[in-house]
Amino acid sequence: MSGETSPPLCFETGKVRQELGLPGRVHSPVGTPLRRLTTQEAEAVGQLVPTILCGEESAVHVFYRGLATLPAEDRPAVLKVVTDETEHETMLSSLFDLCPTPDDIKLRRAKSKRFFMSMAVREPDIHFAQVSALDSGVCILMDELLRGHSAVLRNPDLTRIATRIKMDEATHVGVTRRATKTLGLPAKTYRDQAVATKQAFCDHLAYSADAFEALSVCPDKLFKRIVREIP
Ligand SMILES: [Fe+2]
Ligand SMILES: [Fe+2]
Repeated sequence: MSGETSPPLCFETGKVRQELGLPGRVHSPVGTPLRRLTTQEAEAVGQLVPTILCGEESAVHVFYRGLATLPAEDRPAVLKVVTDETEHETMLSSLFDLCPTPDDIKLRRAKSKRFFMSMAVREPDIHFAQVSALDSGVCILMDELLRGHSAVLRNPDLTRIATRIKMDEATHVGVTRRATKTLGLPAKTYRDQAVATKQAFCDHLAYSADAFEALSVCPDKLFKRIVREIP
């Protein structure tokens, strides 16, 4: 498949990509990520991808805006994060195009858009703390998808996508944590923000609990881990 992927789900990232000289949202070769999955498992992937994809689109904007608030020496690391997020977006968009579209896609899109927009605050230090917590949440989510009896492990292409995102998000958590320190956010405020953000993220993910179950990933264990592990 070549050309553009489907239109953005929640947030258009074309301008940021152009501004930074990054490639457009064209199909990336993701292989055959649904092979060896049952119909129900493929549908579950199709239900989970929109939420994560919307988060990636949002992250592109958040980090792009965040760039200007940081001293020059911290910018290259954040620029690398923006690049990663655009690559995640492209990858997940290509994956989503291969998945069965969920019946409630409109509702999923609206819920995700509302959730990620609710994260937008004016104070850059608080914003970085929230994004750090979200990235940590996504990192743990990917880790759970890559454990135990998860259906994801049955497909090497799907495993590769989840592993790439997991590794990158772990790096992002470090970059954003550092940014909060540079901007002078007290450790206690960081922690409080992280706990609240992770709780809200789990409330948002609860709508997709059945999809995790369908992939043999326990949603309760996942949500507890997300809230417990504060970066
Ligand atoms: Fe990402
Ligand atoms: Fe990230």
